[in-house]
Amino acid sequence: MSTVKKAVIPVAGLGTRVLPASKAIPKEMMPVVDKPVIQHVIEEAIQAGIKEIILVTRSGKSAIEDHFDSHFELEHQLDLKNKTTILDSVSNIIPSDVTILSVRQSEAKGLGHAVHCAARIVNNEPFVVILPDVLVNNYQQAENDLQKMVQAFDEHNAAQIMVESVPQDQVHLYGVTDCKGVKPEAGDSTPICAMVEKPKAEDAPSDLAVVGRYVLPARIMELLANTKPGAGGEIQLTDALDELLKEHKVEAYRMTGKTFDCGNKLGFLQANVAYGLQHPETAEAFKQFLTEQG
Ligand code: G1P
Repeated sequence: MSTVKKAVIPVAGLGTRVLPASKAIPKEMMPVVDKPVIQHVIEEAIQAGIKEIILVTRSGKSAIEDHFDSHFELEHQLDLKNKTTILDSVSNIIPSDVTILSVRQSEAKGLGHAVHCAARIVNNEPFVVILPDVLVNNYQQAENDLQKMVQAFDEHNAAQIMVESVPQDQVHLYGVTDCKGVKPEAGDSTPICAMVEKPKAEDAPSDLAVVGRYVLPARIMELLANTKPGAGGEIQLTDALDELLKEHKVEAYRMTGKTFDCGNKLGFLQANVAYGLQHPETAEAFKQFLTEQG
């Protein structure tokens, strides 16, 4: 059994890239087919063996916590009407052995700061970090990428950072890894010797960008406590990882699935198309519709 049982999910972002849709609802509550993005992400974590989910949130985003809470009136009405399938889909989102907690990030000081807000709850245990903008689609795969990362963390005693190749003109949007020119095969990990947050294309050590899934030892929390603001004036998780790798093995895990960045309009649309074509209730008719659009 893995020792990795906790997940930190930062959800305090303002969602500026998907305005006006995210003006009055959290961007994490926007649906991809029939579930909000955050539910897809939490189901991924549960599949990877996570039992305690820590949302790092802020005022105005309580719809996320409500979504995973019970809704007595709705459940009662569905029960009276014998709508058992729908009732099951709203009342059993989270298995009974999984807990969701939340902490507040009272200032927008960056991803590293958000993760550190969960330090007391993580409490000296390894944990995963999941950036909820990014959906990782592992359709029809027996294990998802996060599961494979947790296994690699245990087997190699090395932090795992999910990476994928991105075009050169996009490296400035990501944390970028230096793996001494090695590019792992999909599903494999390779040691990282340095990391840099949002480099200029000409300074990037490779095209292997960090894409929103991390499996980390508890030590990273101590390093984050001392991390100074970096790129964009924010406390960057990437900078703390660049310190961690000087004293602990840190590996780049090359994903096998496909990612969708639901924090921007195009990625959100693409996710809905891909997931719509995979959902048993919509797949066939939706495929037909898309064909007709040419
Ligand atoms: C964050 C991280 C960055 C990572 C990216 C993945 O950046 O700081 O290292 O590559 O997520 O989506 P953000 O997109 O929040 O600016």
